Amino acid sequence: QDTGKGGYDHYMLKEINEQPTALGRSVSGRTDSGGEEVDLDGFLPGSFDGIDRVHLVAMGTSYHAAMYAESLLARRGVPARAFMSSEYAGSTPPEEDGTLVIAISQSGETADTIAAVRAASAERTMVATNVVGSSLTRECDDTLLVRAGPEIGVAATKSFSAQVATLSLLAERIRRDAVGDPSPDAAAFLSALTRLPDQVRRVVESGAAERIADAFADSESYFFIGRGPGHAVALEGALKFKEITYEHAEGFTAAELKHGPLALVTEETPVFAVFNGGTDDTETLGNVKEIRARGGPVVAVAGGETSDLAETVDHVLSVPSTHPELAGVLANVQLQLVAYHAAKQRGRAIDKPRNLAKSVTV
Ligand code: G6P
Repeated sequence: QDTGKGGYDHYMLKEINEQPTALGRSVSGRTDSGGEEVDLDGFLPGSFDGIDRVHLVAMGTSYHAAMYAESLLARRGVPARAFMSSEYAGSTPPEEDGTLVIAISQSGETADTIAAVRAASAERTMVATNVVGSSLTRECDDTLLVRAGPEIGVAATKSFSAQVATLSLLAERIRRDAVGDPSPDAAAFLSALTRLPDQVRRVVESGAAERIADAFADSESYFFIGRGPGHAVALEGALKFKEITYEHAEGFTAAELKHGPLALVTEETPVFAVFNGGTDDTETLGNVKEIRARGGPVVAVAGGETSDLAETVDHVLSVPSTHPELAGVLANVQLQLVAYHAAKQRGRAIDKPRNLAKSVTV
């Protein structure tokens, strides 16, 4: 028994269970329960005056947090683009005044992300990282800590949730400076953010993900779809699944299905569909019906009232109801648990999957 695992079989499961605490640390003192203030460490109002656009650079799970943040920034009227660091370093977009380059890295040591920041050194750079004093904190002009706490499992879990929470506060701070006023539903969003830790606790305590992993233990491939923040979560759900189960898993934006991946859908390919709880759910439901018509089993990961949805899909993995821009965090926790239990059934080396490293520094 490794005492570092605190009674859990794996660090990954321990870290999944630590997410309420990690999220609490990311959010506490940075906003108020009334949902009006954003007090992000040293980033006072006006810190981002003159910023017109944001480039987010990251790899792996952090790239999915970057995609999530891209969606949050864009919805707040701040033009943003997420890049894989390796692509950014290889073909950096032309320098334009007013660009903020944000590196996202749990470790702060990922070589591709350091290269991207160096390639962007003429711009204002900032890193959102989990590790105080890491290389990226020295490379970048500014540092924002995500406060997830130490993460040991190779498969990133709590760092993703903490990255999204921290970046969502940063998105609101940048919006206020760039556009000049709070985003229209800032109060609802920020108060939902303060409720998120408790809601994540309810997800990890529910036990539903293990039953889903059992139900699809013999499938051929596993697909994940979603839109907006749910697209980032679909990619992250597939990454987690392939990393630790060694099974074929792929994530798509839900709209992409009929442009190719639908050809792969059979009775042997369960599809996990992430619903945000917003207006885009209708379209995602349309995509789900296309999958069902081809015999593909569908697991909807959705919040709120799901009885209508339950008539269309095979299983509902439910999450507590929240703001549509935060539902993805809760859905992602369910998908982490599905991947964990699927990997455990297969006897995989969950904390140290073959061929992978926690931090890729070369
Ligand atoms: C490796 C790890 C991933 C991680 C990625 C980026 O691939 O196995 O879990 O998401 O690096 O790491 P970073 O420390 O930059 O977030």
